[in-house]
Amino acid sequence: MSKNPFTIIFGIEPDSMIPRNNEYMQIIQDFESASPISFGYVITGVRGCGKTVLMTSIQNYFANKKDWIVLRLNPDLDLYESAISQISEHINLKGETITEMSFSVAGMGGGLSKKSLSDNETLLRKLLNEAKNKKKKVLITIDEASNTTSIKTFSHSYQAFIGERLPVFLLMTALPENFSALSNAKNSTFIRRLPRIKLQGLNNILVEDKYMEIFSLSQEEALSLSRIIMGYPYAFQLLGMLLWDSKKKAVDDGILKNLDAMLYDGSYKAIWDHLTEKERNVVLAIAHSNDFTIKEIREELHMESNQFSPYRENLRENGLIDTSTYGKIFFTLPRFREFVLKIEQYII
Ligand SMILES: Nc1ncnc2c1ncn2[C@@H]1O[C@H](COP(=O)(O)OP(=O)(O)O)[C@@H](O)[C@H]1O
Ligand SMILES: [Mg+2]
Repeated sequence: MSKNPFTIIFGIEPDSMIPRNNEYMQIIQDFESASPISFGYVITGVRGCGKTVLMTSIQNYFANKKDWIVLRLNPDLDLYESAISQISEHINLKGETITEMSFSVAGMGGGLSKKSLSDNETLLRKLLNEAKNKKKKVLITIDEASNTTSIKTFSHSYQAFIGERLPVFLLMTALPENFSALSNAKNSTFIRRLPRIKLQGLNNILVEDKYMEIFSLSQEEALSLSRIIMGYPYAFQLLGMLLWDSKKKAVDDGILKNLDAMLYDGSYKAIWDHLTEKERNVVLAIAHSNDFTIKEIREELHMESNQFSPYRENLRENGLIDTSTYGKIFFTLPRFREFVLKIEQYII
């Protein structure tokens, strides 16, 4: 193979892709079924776990179907205006042309007045009705949703459209902490009830096979690589890239140092920055523990069980720790312990 199959850019479907068939099929089959269980899904998981990549592959699947229209909305732009302008590329309303003028007139010079929102909702509803007449289904995707007024307003409209039996489907990605904030907000019952696809690590056996195939490795050599990256998609790409560039087949100190530095810059620093001070203390205590027992960690923190539990739940929910072994806590991300011990040296 001559072309580097790895990519370390977020959101880009890599050539070396480990399929997530369960999640992929679950969403596609449901949206295509005659009576879907849900018209919307939220893909959540820690930074770098592959949310955008999974959503992109589902988007592409539907974009290639002639009876589907895919609208990719950017949460930083006006969701109604983007939806209207994108759907207008596929659907025309008889006797009405939608131009930039309709937006600026409705918005009275750009401001987001209540009137322009309701006008835009009406316009979008008309377009969706027209899509329905043409037997087309519409998939709306929003990458990196968070607790913003625009997402909340738009999701109310969306809920209304579903109630009106319009053929509209919603797929969002969100960091777990952002999704909790969004779903705990007032009047967010609808969002709270959206089924969540929580992305776990990649299948270790598939990771092993992929490394084996790309670098012509023995099973044992591939296994030792797979154990380093612990199923974390971003690390899978980083390590692959480092090995590819250095033409090595095994990890040495130099590669490990580079891997740590790239994990730090590309992901772990941002994860750390988003933790509260208390959460950081818990994470530090986990990193310092010898046998990873809850008992030992709590003792280091001087916390009673009931004080400790909410932190444990939060960190688990955010995808940082694994609590599936009774009485123990492990970090889910590769080299995260080393990262925490390193960053501790910079906290004064
Ligand atoms: N299924 C996968 N197999 C291999 N690499 C993946 C997979 N999904 C994501 N990646 C890689 O992981 C990194 C992060 O993916 P991305 O979808 O941007 O994460 P997120 O949106 O959750 O932050 C990217 O470098 C991407 O190429
Ligand atoms: Mg993303």
